[in-house]
Amino acid sequence: VANRYDLQLVDDACHAMGGMYGATKIGSCSHSDVSTLSFHPVKHITTGEGGSILTNNADIAQKVARLRSHGTVRGKERIKDWEGPWQYDMTELGYNYRLTDLQCALGLSQIRKLDAFVQRRRTLAQYYNQLFSGSEFFRSPTEKEGVTHSYHLYVVRADFQRMRVSRSELFTGCKKNNVLLQVHYRPVVLNSYYRNRAINVGAEERLPVSMAYYRQAVSLPMYPQLTFQDIERVYRALSACLV
Ligand SMILES: Cc1ncc(COP(=O)(O)O)c(C=O)c1O
Repeated sequence: VANRYDLQLVDDACHAMGGMYGATKIGSCSHSDVSTLSFHPVKHITTGEGGSILTNNADIAQKVARLRSHGTVRGKERIKDWEGPWQYDMTELGYNYRLTDLQCALGLSQIRKLDAFVQRRRTLAQYYNQLFSGSEFFRSPTEKEGVTHSYHLYVVRADFQRMRVSRSELFTGCKKNNVLLQVHYRPVVLNSYYRNRAINVGAEERLPVSMAYYRQAVSLPMYPQLTFQDIERVYRALSACLV
């Protein structure tokens, strides 16, 4: 679509770091102009907070670097009324959006562990898949041919009608056993900020797939420190809600 209409494409890869699409790594911008990553603590690697913007386009890279530092530039070649080497020039309205050096140090150490973190998540996902295979109530996420999922989340689709348990009952039942579930995500259009906007009228009817997904989505615990025993405990907690 972007090629047909000559659009610039930003891919939000905040959930996908360490994943692959065919032979290309997510974030390599092989299909987009810009790719974004998040280093929030729940993500594949963390710097506490923050993230990065990846691009192969030199103009975009320079612009992002400028915007990160107050919209300023340095260097004789970039400044028209050059006065001397002390000079910087603010050429546009920018932000103060730099990671601190301490955060960068953490990020550098974390990035060395990325492959191991992703591998661990994949191993855990396989174990979940194994436990849910053949389940009439829970459907595991699928990994399309040629895609390497990095499992930031592990979202199952739960057939609440068939199991005759509501999502609230599943959540509270699991919580009693100290297993915390989540939903990723509630469709944006359901938020009250958007709900009453004219553009949003009838959105729920116009987005039947999103709504169907939302009704069934349940995120199970997924992080590298999780053990197989933890996963068995999650599975038992879910199963206990069904009887
Ligand atoms: C898909 C997606 N995009 C963007 C963000 C925002 O990332 P950050 O919290 O680093 O701004 C998040 C955060 O959870 C996310 O999940």
